[in-house]
Amino acid sequence: MPDTASSITHHITFVPPNYTAYMNRLFISHTVGEGLVMTIENIMNRKSIRNYTGEPVHGAALEKLTAFINELNESAGIFGNKIRLQYIESNSDTGKLGTYGVIKGARSFFAAACKKNAYYYMEDVGYQFEKLVLFATGLGLATVILGGTFSRGSFSRAIGLKEDEILPLVSPVGYAGGKKSLLGRMIKSKSGDRKPWSELFFDGDLHTPLSESDEFAAVLEAVRRAPSAINAQPWRIVRDGGAGYHFYSAGKIEMNRADMGIALCHFEIAAAEKGFTGQFQVLEQNNVENAKYLISFVRG
Ligand SMILES: Cc1cc2nc3c(=O)[nH]c(=O)nc-3n(C[C@H](O)[C@H](O)[C@H](O)COP(=O)(O)O)c2cc1C
Repeated sequence: MPDTASSITHHITFVPPNYTAYMNRLFISHTVGEGLVMTIENIMNRKSIRNYTGEPVHGAALEKLTAFINELNESAGIFGNKIRLQYIESNSDTGKLGTYGVIKGARSFFAAACKKNAYYYMEDVGYQFEKLVLFATGLGLATVILGGTFSRGSFSRAIGLKEDEILPLVSPVGYAGGKKSLLGRMIKSKSGDRKPWSELFFDGDLHTPLSESDEFAAVLEAVRRAPSAINAQPWRIVRDGGAGYHFYSAGKIEMNRADMGIALCHFEIAAAEKGFTGQFQVLEQNNVENAKYLISFVRG
């Protein structure tokens, strides 16, 4: 890949603890598109739903969902972290799985647990969880990722959270219907909005907007549609000539790291569907103004 150092202003050098060891691990890079069953159509159809009919997932949908969860639990995220995904239904054993009044009528949920203190665990949580969300969308099921408005105590008990684990995300999963809560309506009112292309995708540096007729336009549009915490859309993507695309995060909170994993998931699904091949690799790119380098898609 050509060096883009000359076209990108470097301010801060990104050296997390044990970075060299970490980089070495990442030389086992992730080939884009292996084993994916989700589609761009799933990405475009997904939207957050906060009102449910009260029925748990049932029938063939439940069988497919649990089989897919088992499959995901055998795999790891792009950064190598295993995420423990679990399907749960609220019942007399679990008690009420609380969502602070934001979600109405949900009986069944997914939860994502992972090891504490692992490198890039939040990115991998977002990446693996979004695969599950999109798979559920493909089955006609409604979801909404929750990183804040859920009771960690009740969900932790329901999935038997272990001492060395944390529980970053859950989502109701089920059938859309019934009344929306007031809070749910307030959150929903602006959630369909997305930043314009020119604020997200760039050519060579973070100042030059990328042409909307870029050959990866459909792939980048799939990223633009991704859900994010408080709809922050922290992803910034810089095209590096014909060599690939660098992913940066303008996120300010921990939860934005999950958003970045979700963006990578969308990029991967769309790139594979459009027939592009390549790998996600961590390169020696530095952070740029207000954006932190994460990973690159290297064509090949
Ligand atoms: C990592 C993450 C955390 C989120 N946390 C919450 C939450 O705690 N409560 C909530 O109501 N919505 C939450 N959302 C949903 C976002 O508000 C929603 O995805 C965004 O507004 C875009 O709307 P859309 O999903 O309908 O496209 C979260 C989304 C993501 C990706």
